[in-house]
Amino acid sequence: MTNNDFPIDDIIRSRRTSMLVDKSREVPCELINELCELATWAPNHKRTWPWSFAAITGPAQLRFGNTVAEAMATFGDEPAKVEKARTKYARTPAVIVIGSAIGDSELRTIENRDATAAAVQNLMLAATARGLATYWGSCPKGANDSVAQFCGFEPDTTVVCIMYLGWATSTVEAPERPQPSINYLND
Ligand SMILES: Cc1cc2nc3c(=O)[nH]c(=O)nc-3n(C[C@H](O)[C@H](O)[C@H](O)COP(=O)(O)O)c2cc1C
Repeated sequence: MTNNDFPIDDIIRSRRTSMLVDKSREVPCELINELCELATWAPNHKRTWPWSFAAITGPAQLRFGNTVAEAMATFGDEPAKVEKARTKYARTPAVIVIGSAIGDSELRTIENRDATAAAVQNLMLAATARGLATYWGSCPKGANDSVAQFCGFEPDTTVVCIMYLGWATSTVEAPERPQPSINYLND
């Protein structure tokens, strides 16, 4: 049931969570700017523009890892996970953190986060189309506020994604995907 008329379909299907990247090839700021701008075309109820972005490269990646590790340790995470966090954000040439603003009601906060998740997908698809690999990581438990502060976000920001980014060196095999279950209701 595939239709080959639309190039975007191939981009959607070929995007894979991957960290197989050229570690020595930097991702230029101009390109990161382009990806973040494309992210902002996501649907957004009430046009609250809830997203915020931080691009972390170079020595800041290890500083970031240490900040996350300290927050994880304070939270009481396992020592092995804490130590791993110190270096794990330096595995790709760039990391982009994407935050979502608190709303003026519980519903708006949820909608803001939904919009931000859509923005993340925009960013990943645009990156895929340009030959970049992306990997969506969650913010470790207890580290949200430290990450938001490190990134220069507003204090109430929810960190939606810590994204690893780099030039892809290989493609990742696509897993089998179950067909969507669609209930058609028409009477
Ligand atoms: C909201 C969200 C959070 C995620 N957090 C993590 C994470 O913390 N660690 C991780 O290894 N993968 C994380 N992922 C990536 C998924 O594991 C990945 O999308 C999944 O394995 C399917 O692979 P695919 O993206 O190549 O289809 C996250 C994905 C989403 C949408």
